[in-house]
Amino acid sequence: MTLKHLFSLPNDIVYLCGHSLGPMPKMAALCLQEGLHHWEQNLVGAWHDWIDLPKQLGSKIALLIGSSPNEVIVCDSTSINLMKLLLSAIPLNPNRNIILTEQGNFPADLYIADSVACLQNKTVKAVSPDAIVEAMDEQVAVLMLTHVNYRTSFKYDMAKINRKAKALGILTLWDLSHSVGIMPLDCSKFEVDFAVGCTYKYLNGGPGAPSFLYVHQKHLNQIPAIRGWMGHKTPFTFSPHYESANGITAYLTGTPNILSMKALEGALHVFEKVDLAALQEKSTALSSYLIAQCQQYLPDLMLASPFSSAQRGSHVAFSHPHAYAISRAMIAKGVIMDYREPNLMRFGLSPLYVDFADIEKTMEIFREVVQKKLYDLPHFEKKLKVT
Ligand SMILES: Cc1ncc(COP(=O)(O)O)c(C=O)c1O
Repeated sequence: MTLKHLFSLPNDIVYLCGHSLGPMPKMAALCLQEGLHHWEQNLVGAWHDWIDLPKQLGSKIALLIGSSPNEVIVCDSTSINLMKLLLSAIPLNPNRNIILTEQGNFPADLYIADSVACLQNKTVKAVSPDAIVEAMDEQVAVLMLTHVNYRTSFKYDMAKINRKAKALGILTLWDLSHSVGIMPLDCSKFEVDFAVGCTYKYLNGGPGAPSFLYVHQKHLNQIPAIRGWMGHKTPFTFSPHYESANGITAYLTGTPNILSMKALEGALHVFEKVDLAALQEKSTALSSYLIAQCQQYLPDLMLASPFSSAQRGSHVAFSHPHAYAISRAMIAKGVIMDYREPNLMRFGLSPLYVDFADIEKTMEIFREVVQKKLYDLPHFEKKLKVT
């Protein structure tokens, strides 16, 4: 049984796009409404109840990434948090010059790595996923990887990589955007140094929901590279001199975006009922079934994700020369999935609201669209502004 009833989803669609934007949890709408009401009633006085929201939400996300509550805070976007953490991490390894990452990392992460490298006179080394382990050496200051790849769904063996990083004195910075809320994570056990992640994907926090950042306990005595007024020890004394807040609060920058945080607060209630190991198991069963069905009935599709479920996240990607038009035709028939250039179709499988009946329906439509070439229409080929 899914938890579909906790989401506001139309009955006549199959939603397979939670890897991009999760659907709306009913509790998100309620909490957002509560936030609006509090604003309306209490005006500026409402801040008394809101000011600790970044930490409160951080401690809820800590449960999902296997860390201590005081190591996580919610703020800013993933890109900004990545930049904040990378700028803070590199000086901890002052005699090393390399930021190691993957060529196929999410573009924002690569742009941020380049920006930080320029600012701190370092070099970005970007290699293929299978060359990462070999490229780890004592020149590397920080290894910055996305746990599950946004295109292929390839999942790194975090335990193995962190073990080697630790042995070589390399700091690790993981982007958990495509893994948080869909599989168990264990930042403390694997001694992850730093991490960030989106909350609008599998956590269903809503469009543009703020990101989270995690800093391992042992680094919490460092002053972050970016010093924001909300990370000041006493922001409301308005001192011209910076004095860092204690712990994770120091990583705040500016005023928290409260309404988005209220929606996220509601979305996180859903996870109070969720066993992440069971969720991952179900997601794997769904994706393996989708792959098997496609291999049987749609042999023209190429699986672009790992076949082994141990190496796969929670979405599955297939390539096809007409991937874009097929995606448009699928969406027109109520299967909401997405497309990534140049030829990838992605199907996100969150068992919170997707079940086997949804996969059956998806396959029925997928077979009809591909086998009868229903995608072969000019309006399905025409690229939309956001795809
Ligand atoms: C893996 C990954 N990292 C970073 C980002 C960027 O997040 P934001 O736009 O919140 O900065 C995304 C966005 O989809 C992503 O998928």
